[in-house]
Amino acid sequence: MRERKPVRLDGKVAIVTGSGRGLGHAYALALAAAGAAVVVNDLDADVAEKTAEEIRGAGGQAVAEVCAVGSAESADALVGRAVSEFGRLDVMCTNAGALRDRTLVKVTDEEFDLVVDSHVRGTFTCGRAAVRRFREQGGGGRLILVGSPAGQYGGFGQTAYAASKAAIIAMVRVWSVETAKLGVTVNAIVPTALTRMAATIPSLTEAVAAVEAGGPVPADLRRRGIGTVEDVAPLVVYLSSDEAAGVTGQYLGFGGDKFAIWAHPKEAFVTHRDGGWSADQLAEDFAGFAEHLQSHTPPGR
Ligand SMILES: NC(=O)c1ccc[n+]([C@@H]2O[C@H](COP(=O)([O-])OP(=O)(O)OC[C@H]3O[C@@H](n4cnc5c(N)ncnc54)[C@H](O)[C@@H]3O)[C@@H](O)[C@H]2O)c1
Repeated sequence: MRERKPVRLDGKVAIVTGSGRGLGHAYALALAAAGAAVVVNDLDADVAEKTAEEIRGAGGQAVAEVCAVGSAESADALVGRAVSEFGRLDVMCTNAGALRDRTLVKVTDEEFDLVVDSHVRGTFTCGRAAVRRFREQGGGGRLILVGSPAGQYGGFGQTAYAASKAAIIAMVRVWSVETAKLGVTVNAIVPTALTRMAATIPSLTEAVAAVEAGGPVPADLRRRGIGTVEDVAPLVVYLSSDEAAGVTGQYLGFGGDKFAIWAHPKEAFVTHRDGGWSADQLAEDFAGFAEHLQSHTPPGR
């Protein structure tokens, strides 16, 4: 068997939003280790600068651009920085975002806006700025968006977050079609890892603390797709590479020892009635449809 060449990103330039800590930090380090120059971003200046220094200390190329993603100005600043420092842009990974879980009756407008602005508007503005640059540059590009199991299933107390992550998956559907002719691929990773954000989920708080204390991730959690941030980073490196040129319009679950390809939505049951239905007719027919109603219970994590 012919030996496969290692996946390399030499000469490529990537932006990872929210890469001062957590998953984004692992993505930035892994992209740089594979040869890419990286624009590290975070709204927290200390962790952004520290990540860029860590990459440079390991012999890689990185700069920090400190801003809160959401606005068009931040997105333009990020793309502008990639071009001014490294001459081009090849990969935009829209990882940044905040979590403020609260049930519907308790969630405030401010909490909702913070989550939606960082995830939805941040993905929109950064995706748009990147594709404008890819079009100008020619030669394609990579958009790597970030979903969540919450966006696929919903999750208790996650109105803003689940809606945001579902919206990001909708952007994959739209953008992968719109940008195909530019040679741009658009995919979402649906990651799971033990991070500061995961620690806010009660069932994972203990596991995050154990891993932060240097312990291993229990095998049953890894099997369920929950591991370290480093477990998720290889998918970002792969999707950024020339090897993944044919992969677009996908949502890929990744974490621990698990890899998953998510299905696109499809109608679960279809029937027809000539002339359509009145409410009375629906009341009569609905019992016959009931066995096809879909469960929306999120699986236990
Ligand atoms: N941890 C998980 O299991 C998990 C699961 C599904 C999805 N995700 C997604 O992965 C991404 C990273 O999550 P994480 O667990 O590493 O979170 P984290 O909180 O550990 O790290 C997120 C980083 O983003 C930064 N950030 C937040 N809002 C920002 C903004 N507007 N602009 C710039 N930086 C901002 C934070 O300062 C922080 O450094 C998020 O999009 C999250 O929704 C995580």
